[in-house]
This record gives sequence, structure tokens and C-alpha cells, in this order.
Amino acid sequence: MVPTTSLLLLLGLALLAPGLSADQCDLTGNWTNDLGSNMTIGKLSSNGEFAGTYITAVTTTKKEIKASPMVGTQHSNTQPTFGFTVNWNFTDSTTVFTGQCFVDEHGKEILKTMWLLRSHADSIDDNWKATRVGINTFTRRAEVME
Ligand SMILES: *[C@@H]1O[C@H](CO)[C@@H](O)[C@H](O)[C@H]1NC(C)=O
Ligand SMILES: *[C@@H]1O[C@H](CO)[C@@H](O)[C@H](O)[C@H]1NC(C)=O
Ligand SMILES: *[C@@H]1O[C@H](CO)[C@@H](O)[C@H](O)[C@H]1NC(C)=O
Repeated sequence: MVPTTSLLLLLGLALLAPGLSADQCDLTGNWTNDLGSNMTIGKLSSNGEFAGTYITAVTTTKKEIKASPMVGTQHSNTQPTFGFTVNWNFTDSTTVFTGQCFVDEHGKEILKTMWLLRSHADSIDDNWKATRVGINTFTRRAEVME
């Protein structure tokens, strides 16, 4: 039974690997990205659903930016994948994000995402140019102490 014991020992060591703890990568909390956009995500439901608000730092429109609602889901394993939709409520666009939460070598969570931004097209002839694609990286936003 020696091989089994060694295997269990290896498995145990792997689970204790530095920088990876089970409670990390729960998306609940405050995040900021490389553009300075912020999002606040509420508590996860038992099936991994969440809701929050997203404040973008950039916009394709001339309209005043407002905090907008977002909803999404995430898996519950370590370094989980996730997706969420932002329903911009100051303009008639919609963005979907998908990504994965990683724990970096310093034990810090980092969200690597890609997004599709759908702008409203006035006619089907403009459909071809109505979707943009991009990438964003999010980290936890430090709480501002006053
Ligand atoms: C997120 O930020 C809000 C204020 O913007 C603060 O009230 C809240 O405590 C923060 N939550 C966490 C988990 O840091
Ligand atoms: C995001 O939060 C930071 C820190 O609270 C703030 O300085 C910045 O203006 C916020 N960005 C937006 C787009 O509101
Ligand atoms: C837009 O969404 C934000 C965040 O959910 C909410 O506070 C605000 O009332 C909404 N505004 C409108 C016009 O729906």
C-alpha cells in the first residue's frame, strides 16, 4: 500500500501549495481594472450566481457615465472561470465578459478577462460594425481608509 500512501502525501502537498487557498477567487468584493474601471460584486449564491455594479472609466458614447448593473456566474473550484453581463443603463449597449481568476506568485488574485461590447445599431446594415472585442485585467481594489 506504499504507492497509495505516497500518492495521498503528494496530493496533500499539492493542496497546500503556497498562494492557493480555497477561499480565494470568490468574486465577491471590489475590483479595479487596467483602465481604472471599478466593479463591486455581492455575495455568491449557492449555485455560483452573483450580481453587482460596474462603473466604467471609458465609454464609446458621449453620454455621462453612470454605475450600471451586472449579473454573472462563477464556478466554485480553485482558479475558477466565470462570466458576467453588464447592462449599461446610461446607454443602449451591452457588454459580456468571460474570464478566469488566477492566484499569482505573490498570492494575489487576478482576473484575466475578454469582453464583447455590443453597441446599438440603427439598422441591420450597420450590424457588421456593432461589436467590439477587448481584454481587461482586474485586481482587488484596496479599501480607501479615511
Ligand atoms: C467595497 O467598496 C465599498 C465602497 O465603495 C465599501 O463600502 C465596501 O465595504 C467594500 N467592500 C469590500 C469587500 O471591500
Ligand atoms: C475607481 O475607484 C477608485 C478608488 O476608489 C477611484 O479613484 C476611481 O475614480 C474609480 N473609477 C471610476 C471610473 O469611478
Ligand atoms: C443604473 O444601475 C445602477 C446600479 O445598479 C442603479 O443604482 C441605478 O439606479 C440605475 N439607473 C437607472 C437609470 O436605471
